Amino acid sequence: MPGLLLGDAFPDFEAETTIGKIKLHEFLGDSWGVLFSHPRDYTPVCTTELGRAARLSSEFSKRNVKMIALSIDCLEDHHGWTKDILAYNCEDSACCSLPFPIIVDDKRELAVALGMLDPDEKDKDGLPVTARCVFIIGPDKRLKLSILYPTTTGRNFDEILRAVDSLQLTAGKRVATPADWKPGECVMVPPSMSEEEAAALFPAGVYTKDLPSGKKYLRYTPQQ
Ligand code: BEZ
Repeated sequence: MPGLLLGDAFPDFEAETTIGKIKLHEFLGDSWGVLFSHPRDYTPVCTTELGRAARLSSEFSKRNVKMIALSIDCLEDHHGWTKDILAYNCEDSACCSLPFPIIVDDKRELAVALGMLDPDEKDKDGLPVTARCVFIIGPDKRLKLSILYPTTTGRNFDEILRAVDSLQLTAGKRVATPADWKPGECVMVPPSMSEEEAAALFPAGVYTKDLPSGKKYLRYTPQQ
């Protein structure tokens, strides 16, 4: 079964979570969404990841992004593990809950349906655990980006935030962002745009890099 492809409608599943039962689309409302999965509760890399995600949550909210995690353990474990995550990651003793819910997927139904299992990493019963998936969902409930890391490689949540910035910019403007781009830096003119159209659309100017091929495809313009 092929997994979810970019542009696919993201399934509107119902799930039990640490904040109660949700329907995904209703939970997301008009926001963007980041759904990220974890191999198991009470595992070290995941504990650092959820803490990092929690520390960056205000940056995600500023961008109108709702976060939601998933792990293939039960609600009781999610609540118990949350205390460990907070104790490990939050200096502030007043910090008593995670700023996003964790989905309960102890029957692995969602993990299977969303193509999240890592066949190379098994639990003590020999069953595959969830890989570290990141799905970024647009306000139209379509999949805008997916990244799949194996269990042994923790994610970089600054990169996920950077990808959100690029997705949100390019959703509204006909530009593309280059390697390692950060908000405020120059963006690129898509190859399909004619010189005349680019000149009209980007009054701040378009800089074209001379290349050995003589082709004029490497075009920058200031971010507007
Ligand atoms: C972890 O989160 O630390 C982890 C989980 C499964 C396999 C390897 C590492």
